Amino acid sequence: MPSDNNPCRVVVLISGNGSNLQAIIDNTSNDPLINIVGVISNRPQAFGLQRAELASIPTAIVDHTLFSNPADFEQALINKIEAYQPTLIVLAGFMRILSSTFVSHFEGRILNIHPALLPNYKGLHTHQRVLASGDKEHGASVHFVTQELDGGPIVAQVKVAVLANDDEKSLSERVLTAEHWLYSQVISLFAQNRLKVEQNIVTLDGKHLAEQGLQLSLPTAQGIVS
Ligand code: GAR
Repeated sequence: MPSDNNPCRVVVLISGNGSNLQAIIDNTSNDPLINIVGVISNRPQAFGLQRAELASIPTAIVDHTLFSNPADFEQALINKIEAYQPTLIVLAGFMRILSSTFVSHFEGRILNIHPALLPNYKGLHTHQRVLASGDKEHGASVHFVTQELDGGPIVAQVKVAVLANDDEKSLSERVLTAEHWLYSQVISLFAQNRLKVEQNIVTLDGKHLAEQGLQLSLPTAQGIVS
């Protein structure tokens, strides 16, 4: 947990583009309570590494293809993360499944963002599946990570309306914009020491959150109809 005097030391794990990482960098750069101390990618070519370097944030690569088994990869990842002495681990498009060893090592301090209104549409291709189902509502969720894929206790969600003329590209762009706003909100609550998870129950300021977490609305300046 962040202490009262020290900033929350955030390590961000990525696998690709890193647009969520960029949003977190931009949205928290003036926040004295948040210090992004490292960015780690499992893919050497991830564009997010360049984003971190441009922001003068230390980077590391733990390439999963160089390990003969997932346990060795995870141990190397744990070691790299620990070297940054993190308070909080933020998964931002990190596309590896993490075992219970990893999750219990950092218990209560791993967040993930997922492009869907969990518990619906866990896994991949969420936008395509939402469109195929004819849903009128889609969105993004931030949750604490457990060993169940996209399945940990939900902290917060933002809803995004599905429009009649949406295709996968237009819908995914609007959801991604929502993600960019949502993730920083949650990280900020954690850094303020207001957000906790114990035995899979999330509390904000000591009060239990509902199962689907805080239902947040995007500021209208984001230009999103929700
Ligand atoms: C984001 O949409 C994120 O929610 C998703 O990957 C994308 C990464 O984009 N994560 C998952 O699907 C996790 N289950 P980014 O690299 O541009 O931030």
